[in-house]
Amino acid sequence: MESTKHSSAEGTNEHQLNAGTTDAGTREPGTTDAGIQSITVIGGGTMGNGIVHVAAMSGFPVTLVETKQEYADRALLTIGKNLTRMVTKEKISQEQMDQTLGRIHTSLSPAEAVANTDLVIEAIPEQFELKKSLFDVIDQHAPEHTILASNTSSISITKLAACTRRPPKVIGMHFFNPVPVMKLVEVIRGLETDDAVTQAVTELAMQMGKVPVPANDSPGFVSNRVLMPMINEAIFTVYEGVATAEDVDQVMKLGMAHPMGPLRLADFIGLDVCLDILHVLYDGFRDPKYRPCPLLVKMVDAGKLGNKTGEGFYKYG
Ligand code: CAA
Repeated sequence: MESTKHSSAEGTNEHQLNAGTTDAGTREPGTTDAGIQSITVIGGGTMGNGIVHVAAMSGFPVTLVETKQEYADRALLTIGKNLTRMVTKEKISQEQMDQTLGRIHTSLSPAEAVANTDLVIEAIPEQFELKKSLFDVIDQHAPEHTILASNTSSISITKLAACTRRPPKVIGMHFFNPVPVMKLVEVIRGLETDDAVTQAVTELAMQMGKVPVPANDSPGFVSNRVLMPMINEAIFTVYEGVATAEDVDQVMKLGMAHPMGPLRLADFIGLDVCLDILHVLYDGFRDPKYRPCPLLVKMVDAGKLGNKTGEGFYKYG
């Protein structure tokens, strides 16, 4: 097991968060005015490895935590491939790629990895009980000043914060897939999230080259509250035989200039994830307008989850 600690966060146990400026252009890469100098990302899946990629490329030392070394290696391989693509397209130099990879360390122990870090970003599967146990471990082992951020797309930040002894330091940092490409970070304030923490995370997102947009904790936040009903309605359109999946997608691509149609996007996100988020909206608002389409439920039951299983509304090679 490799567990690497970086030294750049030396002394940060003592420091307090400052409400920093938002002028990301004047700062040294890998630091923020609020004092974030090191980041730990827990989970190296699609979202986690993308977050590690952008954080390391912005100059931050990052520890990537996984449950098995082979998962950590797979995440590093993906990051390497995505960076190579950027070098090939002359978006970054080979030297920048090497420096980025040099800033990434891996660990199999959340407790050790958070012991000297300023910010933890959790990006593990969307199961509340799993996140609750992890937040408990992080809370016990991370220094007092450490911010705990979750990349959750639907679980309440307020509820996650309540699993810790530091609700003011818990926040949502919701990234979008593919993380190196998508500009948005939804910054979700829980009921008790401190303003200085919101400011620190906002500034950090800018330092990562992203555009932070604030939202208060509410089912689906803004992104999924708006996106999922559109995807669900697109599925109803197919279910009711109004048009084929291809034609629904063509309408939205050519008529509304969406880069992907809603059904292709649903496959890309994962139909199980879409269904979970619709359940969160339905349960959270008790409003029938979020009722998942029976076709979506049936496809998830059949294991047709989209890109990751090779079939959803489309087949993937
Ligand atoms: N890493 C780095 N670069 C990547 C990449 C990755 N993982 N994936 C794609 N790219 C780059 C490509 O190199 C390419 O770069 P250039 O413009 O310099 O050529 C660019 O992104 C476009 O990629 P492609 O040419 O391969 O393909 P495309 O033009 O069809 O774009 C796409 C692909 C960016 C995914 C585009 O289709 C798109 O924007 N789709 C919508 C994605 C979206 O809505 N994501 C949000 C999902 S919701 C979510 O994540 C959160 C949730 O809570 C559910």
